Amino acid sequence: MPKPKVFVTRILPSQGMRMVQEQCVADVWPHDLPPSREELLEHVGDVEGLLSLLTERIDAEVMDAAPRLRVVSNCAVGVDNVEVAAASARKIPVGNTPDVLTDATADMAFALLLSAARRIVEGVHYVRAGHWKTWGLRVLLGADLAGATLGIIGFGRIGKAVARRASGFGMRVLYHDPSVPPALGALPVDLDQLLRESDFVSLHVPLTNETRHMINEVTLNKMKLGAVLVNTARGPIVDLDALYRALKSGHIFAAGLDVTEPEPIDGDNPLLQLDNCIIVPHLGSASQWTREQMGILAAENLIAGLNGERLPHCVNPEVYTRP
Ligand code: DGY
Repeated sequence: MPKPKVFVTRILPSQGMRMVQEQCVADVWPHDLPPSREELLEHVGDVEGLLSLLTERIDAEVMDAAPRLRVVSNCAVGVDNVEVAAASARKIPVGNTPDVLTDATADMAFALLLSAARRIVEGVHYVRAGHWKTWGLRVLLGADLAGATLGIIGFGRIGKAVARRASGFGMRVLYHDPSVPPALGALPVDLDQLLRESDFVSLHVPLTNETRHMINEVTLNKMKLGAVLVNTARGPIVDLDALYRALKSGHIFAAGLDVTEPEPIDGDNPLLQLDNCIIVPHLGSASQWTREQMGILAAENLIAGLNGERLPHCVNPEVYTRP
C-alpha cells in the first residue's frame, strides 16, 4: 500500500512530526508564516489528509480543491477556522486537540488577570524607564483578587480550570453558560447579572455567530465600574474599538488579551498605546509540554482518518452516522 499524501501547514513539534512522516508522504510547509491562500490551494490538490493550524481558513473552496481529501486535522481545540458544515457535507471528519491545552490556557488567563489587576507590565516599564526612585504608598496601585467576584463566560473545560484557580485566590465565581450544570462552587447566572456583579470577567466561549462581538459597547457598559476583562478565547468575541473607549474612559480598569481581531493586531491600533491594556500574541497553549501533546493529538487524528478509523477527537461525529 503506498503511503497517503498529506499537506501539513507548518513544522510540527518533534513527536507529532515524526508520527506523520512515518505514516505519510508529507508535504510540510517549512516557513514560520502560513501559506497564502493561493499556496494552500496549490498544495492540497492531490492530498488525502490536511493538517492545519488556526491561521489557515479551511473552507469549502479548499475542500473542493482537494477532491481526494479524507480528513482535516486542526492543531488547536478551536475549529472556527474550519468550515465544519462543509466538511460534514463531504463526509470529511475534522479533528481537534482538546484537553491537553486546558491548563496552559487557564494559566494564561490567570497570568493576564493578575498582570492586568496588579499592573505588572506597567511596573516593568516604570523600572526600565528609570522612574523607580523610592517606595511609594500610591505607586501603581492595582485591584485585589481576594474577595472579588470573577465572572466566567463559557464554562467548558478551560472555563472550569479558570474557576479552580480562582477559588485558590479566594474569589467568588459566577459563570454564564446555559448548557452547563453548576460545578466547582461556581454560581450559574445570566449574562447581565454576571456583567453587573463581576470585578473580573474572563471569556471562554468558542467563536460562533452568537459570540462574535458579544463584548461590545452595550455589554461593556453593563460591566462594573473598574472591572478587568480577560480574553484568551478568540479575538472577534470582543469589539476592540468599544474596548478601547471603555479602557480610555476608565470604566474598565484594565484588559488582558491573548487574542485580537485581527491577528496579529494592526500595529496602529490605539489599544497598543494604552498602559491599561496588555496584549500578548495568542500564547494560551504555548508551553513546551502542551505544544508537544497538541502535535501528537493532531498526528493521531490525521493518521486515524487516513486509516479509515474514527478520529480520537472528532468535532463532527455525524460523519460516522449520517447515510
Ligand atoms: C486553540 O487551540 O484553539 C488555541 O487557541 C491555540 O492553542
